[in-house]
Amino acid sequence: MQHYEQYHEVDGYYISKSFPEECVRSALSYKTQPGDLFIVSYPKCGTTWMQHIVYNIINGHPPPKNQLLSWIEMPFLEAQGAESVEDMQRPGPIKTHMAFRFQPYSKDAKYIYVARNPYDCCVSHFYHTRNAPIYRFQEGTFDQFFDMFVEGKVDVGDYFDHLLSWHAHRNDPNVLFVTYEQLKKDINAWVVKIADFIGEEFGQKLRSDNSRLENVLLNISVKNMKEILNDSMKTLFDDPETALGSKVPKWIALMRESIGADACDRPMTGDFVRKGVVGDWRNHFSEDQVKRLKKRIHEKTLGSDVMDLWKDADIPHGVFNAKLWAISRGS
Ligand code: A3P
Repeated sequence: MQHYEQYHEVDGYYISKSFPEECVRSALSYKTQPGDLFIVSYPKCGTTWMQHIVYNIINGHPPPKNQLLSWIEMPFLEAQGAESVEDMQRPGPIKTHMAFRFQPYSKDAKYIYVARNPYDCCVSHFYHTRNAPIYRFQEGTFDQFFDMFVEGKVDVGDYFDHLLSWHAHRNDPNVLFVTYEQLKKDINAWVVKIADFIGEEFGQKLRSDNSRLENVLLNISVKNMKEILNDSMKTLFDDPETALGSKVPKWIALMRESIGADACDRPMTGDFVRKGVVGDWRNHFSEDQVKRLKKRIHEKTLGSDVMDLWKDADIPHGVFNAKLWAISRGS
C-alpha cells in the first residue's frame, strides 16, 4: 500500500519520511546539555498542549503564532536535527517523540513524558495521518489506520513499546510522567506541578500571583490553542524567507527533499487542535476493533501494570479473554 512507503527506519527508529535521515541521525546522537528540558510523547498524546503549558509557564505568554518561529523556539529534535537545539533560546522545551532507547538521556536533563490512553490516541493519530499530506493518506479510512496502529506501523512505530519504555522510568527523579487524562481532570494543579518541576522559582511565581496562573490556564485552553494553531499549522512551510529572513534553517529543505515538495507544501486539512476530549474512541471503534485492541494490550502489557494509568478513565475495561476471542473468531 502506498502509505506504508511514507515511513522509513533510521537506525531502528520507525518514522515518517518527513523526518529527514540526517536530522534523525543527528538527533539520536545529540549530547544533552545540563538544564535541557525535554517534552517526550508518542504522537497525539498531548505534546503540543504540554509545549504550550511549559512555554507559558516560562514566558508568561503563548508561543508565536507563526509556526516556523514557534518551532525555532521549541525545537522538535528529530525533525529539525541537533543544530536547532544548540541554537535555541533557553530555558525552553525540546520536543521529541523518542521511545526511551532512542532518547538522549542524562540525569542532568529533565523529561516530561505525556501518555494518553491507546483508544483516543489511535483516533487522534488517524485524523492527523489523514489530514497531514506528508502521509499521503488523504483517502485513508479509520479501519485501515486501525490495522496499521495495531501492527505498530504508523508514525513513530509501536504505541506500546513507546509507553512501556518510559513507564519504566516514571519514578526517575528527573522525569515527570503525566497522562493526558490527568491533565484534563485537574489542569490547575498540574500546571503548578509542572512549573515546580521546571524550577522551583516558576512554581513559586504561580503560587504567589494568581493572575499569572489564570493567564497560563487561559492561554492553554482548547479554545485559545485552536486560535493560535489551527490556521497557522496549515501553512507551516509557507514562505519561510518572509518569516525568517536569511536564517532559513537547513532542515526545511531537507524535509522537502525527504518527503517530496508536493506533500511538504500542501496545506493540512482539518484541525490540528481537534476535539481535545477524553472518550472520542466511542465515535470510531467497532466492537471488533475494541476486542482487537484489548488483545493487543493483553499481549504487549502482560506482566505490567501500565494500563492502571487509565483504570478510572472512560475506556473499555475488562480483561482480554483468549477463549472467548477464539470462539468469536470461529477457531
Ligand atoms: P484530539 O485529536 O483527540 O482532539 P499532539 O499535540 O501530541 O499531536 O496531540 C494532539 C491532541 O491533543 C489532539 O487530540 C488535540 O486536539 C489535543 N489538544 C491540543 N491542545 C489541547 C488543549 N489545549 N487541551 C486539550 N487537548 C488538546
